[in-house]
Amino acid sequence: MKQSPVIAPSILSADFARLGDDAQAVLDAGGDWVHFDVMDNHYVPNLTFGPMICKALRNHGITAPIDVHLMVEPVDDLAEAFAGAGASLISFHPEASRHVDRTIGLIRDAGCKAGVVLNPATPLDAITCVLGKVDMILLMSVNPGFGGQKFIPYVMDKIRQARAIIDDSGRDIRLEVDGGVDVGNIGALYEAGCDTFVSGSAIFGSGDYAKTIAAMKSEIDSSG
Ligand code: DX5
Ligand code: ZN
Repeated sequence: MKQSPVIAPSILSADFARLGDDAQAVLDAGGDWVHFDVMDNHYVPNLTFGPMICKALRNHGITAPIDVHLMVEPVDDLAEAFAGAGASLISFHPEASRHVDRTIGLIRDAGCKAGVVLNPATPLDAITCVLGKVDMILLMSVNPGFGGQKFIPYVMDKIRQARAIIDDSGRDIRLEVDGGVDVGNIGALYEAGCDTFVSGSAIFGSGDYAKTIAAMKSEIDSSG
């Protein structure tokens, strides 16, 4: 069963020169979580921010869940550092960890929820064995590394399959989608089985965060 819908604006598209205020503004505008994209110029060809910035957001007064998406290799040390820096959920790409089960264990032992992220071309089999231990499955609908890319249509089918796998498991696992999510496709994504939506450029690139997030929520509501 789908969990209550969550919009997680990706601060990859925020104004980095005033990150704390911009993150607070998007939450005040109706965003539910802060999606925090960590890139290392190794697992993905881009470089963003680390645990110190996460901690700085907490110190700035951000109290909403921080949804850390690690696009780094190796994973374990940074996952622990983010748990210490105030992350709420930590997701990682299984290809980037030698010991996926251990990585999930250390994230949960550190008091965070654990997610596994599948690239568009990574099959759902990659998570079969760990379904009993994860709190979230994140399906990438673009190749990771950059904001502002186009949604890859074949991921829609994968979302339906992932929803069936989650429902069969009987566990409360969130299904998050990341990449090219906007007002135009969010209803179809909810209908296909997602309950957690990352959106960067569609929110931060719009003139009015509140209007865009409200439009996303109303698309979700009318999609059932
Ligand atoms: C891409 C990141 C995404 C990105 C999404 O590697 O994981 O979270 O910010 O950006 P948009 O919504 O612009 O596709
Ligand atoms: Zn992301």
